[in-house]
Amino acid sequence: MTAEQLPGAPRIAWRGDDLCMENLRLADLAHAYGTPLFVYSKASMLDALGAYQRGFAGRKLQICYAMKANSSLGVLQVFAQAGCGFDIVSGGELERVLAAGGEPKKVIFSGVGKTRAEMKQALQAGIGCFNVESEAELEVLSAVAVGLGAVAPVSIRVNPDVDPKTHPYISTGLKGNKFGVAQERTLDAYRRAASLPGLKVVGIDCHIGSQITEDSPYLDAMDRILDLVTAIEAAGIPIHHIDFGGGLGINYNGDTPPQADALWMQLFAKLDSRGFGNRHFMIEPGRSLVGNAGVCLTEVLYLKPGELKNFCIIDAAMNDLPRPAMYQAFHAIVQLATSTAAPSTYDVVGPICESGDWIGRDRELAVQQGDLLAVLSAGAYCMSMSSNYNTRGRAAEVLVDGTTAHVIRERESAADQMRGEKLIG
Ligand code: LLP
Repeated sequence: MTAEQLPGAPRIAWRGDDLCMENLRLADLAHAYGTPLFVYSKASMLDALGAYQRGFAGRKLQICYAMKANSSLGVLQVFAQAGCGFDIVSGGELERVLAAGGEPKKVIFSGVGKTRAEMKQALQAGIGCFNVESEAELEVLSAVAVGLGAVAPVSIRVNPDVDPKTHPYISTGLKGNKFGVAQERTLDAYRRAASLPGLKVVGIDCHIGSQITEDSPYLDAMDRILDLVTAIEAAGIPIHHIDFGGGLGINYNGDTPPQADALWMQLFAKLDSRGFGNRHFMIEPGRSLVGNAGVCLTEVLYLKPGELKNFCIIDAAMNDLPRPAMYQAFHAIVQLATSTAAPSTYDVVGPICESGDWIGRDRELAVQQGDLLAVLSAGAYCMSMSSNYNTRGRAAEVLVDGTTAHVIRERESAADQMRGEKLIG
């Protein structure tokens, strides 16, 4: 595969015979730190952030990185240092933000099932906003805040019932989804929120899905949200900020999502025409900030030719890269160096004892045992969704910054995995 054919790998390029990220040879990193190894480009993350910043130039914006996409501390630190806030969905994520130097007041807390303990933890940390996802949650949050003598800043997540035209598992803004408050219920929910003693309404939010590659779902959702803001404010409840969620897709396999700046140019044309352009905005991008900044390096353990299929067995597996098994997702797989091996078509699979443990199907590769491969677009929803299935330690992670490689996570040992477990006596 030539450099031009690498889908969505902006800081990855061939230098002679070697595939490089920024100024480092990926093969050198694999040799130095072992495989499977996640490698991220800091410049690529900042480039992606820059596209949003351009789209919002001259506007009032807080970017809250949806850290579920990749919550490794070193990655969070890059975004915290760039001035980002964070969209969290658990108390554990809040602890990570604080450990990485993030500012609590730039944190927003999403999720349909916040526990009382998590609400308390977030109130005590002084987060910026709770994105409340149901009317029942409003009641509980108010009670928890009153119990602490605090007032919780809230926004209600609206389910605008638009089809994001993406994989059903990652659509979130349709009527049948568990997320948010139905559009028709929103005004009543705001009236209730405004009447509760432990809450202060500060915003409105929506998030319609993930890996969205078209602009029309965003434009439709925006119209519906603006209609609601108009109705809520007419009822005497001011809305300080509009949070438009995340969801922008990336190029995995020739996908052509709109660029963040182009998308927001269109959205601002609508916002300006409807008189909302000077509001405070928040967004919650995850995948589009980190997805194409990362690769997973892996070694070919064995080639296993077969009657129906040829298998290329690698040392990364579904515990490291769960997206193909979960969503039949496509990740490009490229070789780190040119090879003299004869090309053949392989299913690229991991060592885990499941037929679902595949990383790529029917891939043309010219590989031999011991060769190194890179699984592309692996910066988002890979490490953060990884598991210890088959007692496989989590991979190590390296963040590349120019000519420097920072190890941001050590490879997990079996002892790390067994910590906290006890024999019965
Ligand atoms: N805000 C909320 C409330 C969310 O639920 C999500 C993602 C985001 C923001 C960030 O969305 P993004 O910009 O990353 O699309 N594991 C799946 C993706 C699940 C997305 C869940 N919510 C995958 O690997 O494709």
